[in-house]
Amino acid sequence: MKEIINGISVFMEGNSKNQSIIFIHGFPYDSTMWKAQVDELSDKYFCVAYDIRGLGDSPAGDGQYTMESFVDDLESIINELGLDKPILCGLSMGGYISLRALERMQNKFSAVVLCDTRSEADNSEGKLKRAAAIKRINTEGLAPFAKEFITNCYGDHYKQKDKNDFENQIAKSSAFDPIGVKGSLLAMLGRNDTTEYLSKIKIPALVICGEHDALTPPLVMKSMAEKINGAEFVIIKNSGHMSPIENPLEVNKTIIDFLKKL
Ligand code: MLT
Repeated sequence: MKEIINGISVFMEGNSKNQSIIFIHGFPYDSTMWKAQVDELSDKYFCVAYDIRGLGDSPAGDGQYTMESFVDDLESIINELGLDKPILCGLSMGGYISLRALERMQNKFSAVVLCDTRSEADNSEGKLKRAAAIKRINTEGLAPFAKEFITNCYGDHYKQKDKNDFENQIAKSSAFDPIGVKGSLLAMLGRNDTTEYLSKIKIPALVICGEHDALTPPLVMKSMAEKINGAEFVIIKNSGHMSPIENPLEVNKTIIDFLKKL
């Protein structure tokens, strides 16, 4: 089922009376990146996945986004759907949104799954890379940037084994509205560092990282997990930055084992 909430395309599967899980995708993707998890979990959980403003089916508008406005969108979805203490599950940029959402309103959530993400804000080099990406999209169009960025996201195993899916992903993201993609880049460039808050997370947390993740590598994620009281840290084999897509069986099992303990 699809609903438009505050201009955002929100997709729901499962019985709304069950415990809800909100899936927040990474950049430059859309909610379909969680398909394997939603398919597996929607018999027992109410699965809510949405396209972040400006990506996928959610219109770009003026492209003037901040991490705060992304969290405002998340909050409006929770309120509009009347979700009671949902579990948050965010990958990479979705993880940045999740961490900032916890900092702002941890009491609204019952647990968090952080996949292939980090708590640190962009350093100077990272900010310059975002600026160069925006300039490149302005001069060359979105496709060359999307191809290079997405190629770095996936591990070799997936790129060889699921070549068609990988190429379809590049084609899909290349067709997104460049205004929305640049808006996400600006929101990530301007986001706050949430590292100080990690020790204040009191809800159960699972931290997942692809063993070959080049963007948020295992060492970075392990150090993040160690700062969250009682967090579980799991490395996913045969996977780069997009572990829920690259190794869905292992990611699903890891999430289900975590959920069973709640
Ligand atoms: C993502 O997957 O969301 C991006 O890699 C995040 C980023 O560029 O920092």
